[in-house]
Amino acid sequence: MESPSAPCPPSGFGAQSALQGRDLLSSADLSASETRTLLALATELKSGQRQIDLGGKVLGLIFSKASTRTRVSFTVAMARLGGQTLDLNPSVTQVGRGEPIADTARVLSRYCDALAIRTFAQEELAEYAHWASIPVINALTDLEHPCQALADFLTLQEAFGAVDGLTLSYVGDGNNVAHSLMLCGALLGVNVRIGCPVGFEPSAAVLSQARALAQGQATIEVVHEPLAAVRQAHALYTDVWASMGQEQEQADRERAFAGWCLNEELLAEADSRAIVLHCLPAHRGEEISAGVIEGCASRVFDQAENRLHVQQALLAALLGG
Ligand code: CP
Ligand code: NVA
Repeated sequence: MESPSAPCPPSGFGAQSALQGRDLLSSADLSASETRTLLALATELKSGQRQIDLGGKVLGLIFSKASTRTRVSFTVAMARLGGQTLDLNPSVTQVGRGEPIADTARVLSRYCDALAIRTFAQEELAEYAHWASIPVINALTDLEHPCQALADFLTLQEAFGAVDGLTLSYVGDGNNVAHSLMLCGALLGVNVRIGCPVGFEPSAAVLSQARALAQGQATIEVVHEPLAAVRQAHALYTDVWASMGQEQEQADRERAFAGWCLNEELLAEADSRAIVLHCLPAHRGEEISAGVIEGCASRVFDQAENRLHVQQALLAALLGG
């Protein structure tokens, strides 16, 4: 029996994590078993059953968009792992003055042990990963939000014990959060149903990729009618209608998404045990009603807390505790 305070390798990854040194640019960068193992390690870290010491490793945060949860949870996760974070906001580094990513990534690789990057284009993230010799983590791009999806499925697992065979319905914009839910859900054997107005579907390429990755009998569907989207689902999920970078489309999107508010009427169509999820920040009265987000089915603050635990597990696996 291991001492709970002894530094030890991540659960299920063996003495040297199979993830050590790798990047997480997409939910699809993890295999099904790696995804499950990260959730198991996050559970152990959350319960205090396991502690991991990274011995002073440094995570650089390069955030070109606003963030509360991701920034703070990565910072606290590194502190709990005995490491630290450096805030490398592009507005205070030479990146903001046009220094090439190729140079920045190689320089930062000489100082830091990993980089967590929040930006617009997935291609920019991929360019950092290409030039960096240290793990690069997607902390949200316009295409994906893989750390969010890990926390979401940990929250679903906590509510139901196991996730395979469950149905998660996401109603709203087919955006970065929807894409990572589709890919991560597929790997975990969860049926993922995306309900959205015509014209706001997830990327066709991500849809095909998720269907190809789907484990067991899991299905990945897109539907265009709100009640059909949520029927008998075990989790109802929504996100903002206008993501960061789409602020000028807010008014048009509010019109396009009329009838797509995750409200009491939609919740009544779901499984009687259904939980409600939202990555936050939320706009009450737009994509979700105040009653539903504050209601007894809501798990949004557990979900936000779980960002800390899954990212602690991820950092431990990538950096080798
Ligand atoms: N859910 C999420 O990523 O929140 P932040 O934008 O606050 O990091
Ligand atoms: N889709 C949202 C998620 C925020 C966490 C955005 O990209 O702004």
